[in-house]
Amino acid sequence: MQKNQFTIEWISCRYDELPAAERALAEAAKEQAERAYAPYSNFKVGAALRLASGTIVGGANQENAAYPSGLCAERTALFSAATQYPADAPAQMAIIALLNGVATDAPVSPCGGCRQVFTETEQRYGRTFELLLCGKDEVIKITASSLMPLAFGGDGAK
Ligand code: THU
Repeated sequence: MQKNQFTIEWISCRYDELPAAERALAEAAKEQAERAYAPYSNFKVGAALRLASGTIVGGANQENAAYPSGLCAERTALFSAATQYPADAPAQMAIIALLNGVATDAPVSPCGGCRQVFTETEQRYGRTFELLLCGKDEVIKITASSLMPLAFGGDGAK
């Protein structure tokens, strides 16, 4: 019998501590959020994904009257990028949520389904990518797969 543990590291900072390119990515995520289709939750989420080449791909949550048919902002961006630029690895993704048009105080926290997709995306491209989880004033920077310890890997925990 063995006791194990994970150590998860992240950085929290304010917007003015981010490099200009990361502030711009967060701003792009906010523009995406404003385009979300979220008439059922009124929770508008935007994602801006920077690929290794520098190309930015956006995503916003898309809801549907048949609730499970909708999709989160993060997966909208990742699947769109993988379709348009399959050879271009994700490098960094900023995510922000607007409640009644205003960024949430706490940085947005991706759902479990998105975390599962983040992890497989890293495996697929053989490199990690970084998330910028954006709140009103605070940003959390964290490696995507570190949000999903013991992820399902098709044949057990990976
Ligand atoms: N949502 C996202 O798009 N990303 C997240 O990280 C959290 C949740 C969406 C799904 C749904 O359209 C709405 O927010 C409320 O859960």
